[in-house]
Amino acid sequence: MTNFAYLYMGTQKHFTLNQVIHPIFLGKTVFKKLSVFIKKGNYSSLHILVDENSMQHCLPILISNCIELKEANIIEIESGEANKSVEICVELWATLTDEKAERKALFLNLGGGVICDMGGFVASTYKRGIDFVNIPTTLLAQVDASVGGKLAINLEGYKNQIGTIVHPKAVFVETDFLKTLSKREYLSGFAEMIKHALVADINYWNKLKKVDISQKNFAAPFVNHSIEIKTDIVQSDPYEKGVRKVLNFGHTIGHALESYFLKHNKNYLLHGEAVAIGIICEAYLSSIKYSFDKKQLTEVCSFVSLHYKKYNISSAAFSEIIAFMLQDKKNEKKEINFTVLKKIGKASPNHSFTRAQIKEALDFYNNL
Ligand SMILES: NC(=O)c1ccc[n+]([C@@H]2O[C@H](COP(=O)([O-])OP(=O)(O)OC[C@H]3O[C@@H](n4cnc5c(N)ncnc54)[C@H](O)[C@@H]3O)[C@@H](O)[C@H]2O)c1
Ligand SMILES: [Zn+2]
Repeated sequence: MTNFAYLYMGTQKHFTLNQVIHPIFLGKTVFKKLSVFIKKGNYSSLHILVDENSMQHCLPILISNCIELKEANIIEIESGEANKSVEICVELWATLTDEKAERKALFLNLGGGVICDMGGFVASTYKRGIDFVNIPTTLLAQVDASVGGKLAINLEGYKNQIGTIVHPKAVFVETDFLKTLSKREYLSGFAEMIKHALVADINYWNKLKKVDISQKNFAAPFVNHSIEIKTDIVQSDPYEKGVRKVLNFGHTIGHALESYFLKHNKNYLLHGEAVAIGIICEAYLSSIKYSFDKKQLTEVCSFVSLHYKKYNISSAAFSEIIAFMLQDKKNEKKEINFTVLKKIGKASPNHSFTRAQIKEALDFYNNL
């Protein structure tokens, strides 16, 4: 990893070299850092977005540790990917209006990726944009969704169809919040960590392979490293013109599966579960066209299959799943865009595959 200059841990001093990417605070003093941030910002009002789970498990801890938030307005929405929608955004913009939020208001996203993606979108568009910060409470949001400024909502069944890239003013990460997360949600976040290792760091991959997932909060010691990998990549390409696309490894097929399951409401897949399947399929594609080593392919498939439930993807659904891929935001000139693995720890963006090859990859997953 290159010199990492925008992560603030404990009392260690780091400096933001380049304000393209926001500062990220984690470690024991995170709530103190948030208090200082709020005081310095001199905001005219504070608005905390939660869902029922982050409200129950995280809000009391946050408020008791950060006195500045005692008088904040609390805005609660129902949890779930289906609520990452324009209808809920309209409600949130109306609530901010009712609460008389001015341009100098601060919006705080306390929750998982749904809260961070949608809350950031609402804040960045309300009155042409008010400050917002992320306080991620799921593993997935801590290592991925809260960092990097991608904000989005779903539209007509398509994932993240409407959105912007606007960076939060800061991100505050408290891994103790993860203690109340269900095992299934926890593993969903772990899939993004697996992705980080596969695209950027073989040593990290070797470490993740050894984790004991039966241990509570087993991933907490690695949260900072995943954030480092993500921010390093985002820093070099904040608006996803090139290299940032490697972070979409597993997501071309993953997002299409997530959209497909969401549309058909078949006890739908969590984001990370869909990404786990996408990782297997896209590692397979890497092997058939770009000489990703067969032994490494087996290693990836065995590790991922060990931790994630197997779903059967009906071959009758393949065409519809590919139709979802045609809406992928990375596509150019109607070609479905993939990131491939050259080897574990090294990825390459902007590759295309035929429909037949994509179907073969889905079959490969089904036959594992
Ligand atoms: N913007 C990005 O760069 C980016 C990256 C990856 C994923 N995402 C998006 O993130 C979303 C998925 O995020 P997610 O997995 O966090 O989903 P989520 O926000 O739906 O949270 C998962 C569940 O955990 C609950 N929860 C949250 N914190 C909790 C806690 N501390 N204890 C107990 N329960 C808690 C939530 O209420 C919800 O039921 C997807 O919409 C995905 O597209 C965005
Ligand atoms: Zn993701």
